[in-house]
Amino acid sequence: MTREISLSELVQKFDQWVTEDRSILFITGAGVSAESGIPTYRGDSGLYNEPDEETGLPMEVIMSGETWQTNPELLMKHLRKVADNCSSAKPNEAHRFISALEERLSRVWVLTQNVDGLHRKAGSKNVIEIHGNAFTMECTAFEEHSWEVSSYDEIAGDIRCPHCGSAGRPAVVLFGESLPDVAVETYERELERGFDVVISVGTSHMLPYIDHPVFFGGAWETLVLNPQPVPIEELAFDYAAKFKAAEALGHVAQNLPGF
Ligand code: OAD
Repeated sequence: MTREISLSELVQKFDQWVTEDRSILFITGAGVSAESGIPTYRGDSGLYNEPDEETGLPMEVIMSGETWQTNPELLMKHLRKVADNCSSAKPNEAHRFISALEERLSRVWVLTQNVDGLHRKAGSKNVIEIHGNAFTMECTAFEEHSWEVSSYDEIAGDIRCPHCGSAGRPAVVLFGESLPDVAVETYERELERGFDVVISVGTSHMLPYIDHPVFFGGAWETLVLNPQPVPIEELAFDYAAKFKAAEALGHVAQNLPGF
């Protein structure tokens, strides 16, 4: 049975986990960056709510590996919108609190679906970017060739690898594509070690590899921080904190000694 908890109980939970130096896995999605001004994919004003105005194609079709092959300009038009929203955004209280916890505790990891890079900008180092990063470009000829851009203003026309001149592309996972090898290896290695606490923040839990860590070890404590219910809530979470991420974790940080 999931128990809905208040803000003060959320503070108490974190106080306990910090005092006991618990290992924590945060699983984050678009909602953790919503209060940084980045639109989510689904829900109110979600990026996927409306089809492309010119072609009428749904966004799930456009943001796919197939569209990258057949109509990269169309895909880049939409990816550019995502990147433009992200490039001006700054980490919020949620990103900052998670990063501060990593400094403080022996083992904290973030498994994020976000491509905005805000967890790293906030200072988190143990980050698994399972869908890549919109500001990393990769060469399609040599996987060891990659480079960073700070905004898509730096990308005009074809993306070319600065090392070898081959075609390049944003290092993001599109629908129908496989997950990045290094991210998957890290994910498997860290899940194998297990966590005491698994916390879901701002994701609608649409993907099996996002649900998996929540079920992986029955003895873990699990908490979901999301103003809306998520599909696996009753099945998977001990505690539900029905708040906005930055508001709630900002409050926790203010009420925990040393944060
Ligand atoms: P979604 O847009 O599907 O879900 C966002 C979640 O954040 C919802 O559950 C909201 O209730 C919640 N939310 C909104 N505002 C919030 C706030 N201030 N604080 C906390 N929670 C909030 O985003 P994701 O679950 O990240 O994949 O989407 C998963 C994947 O679907 C994305 O990575 C992307 C997309 O297709 C790819 O592009 C491969």
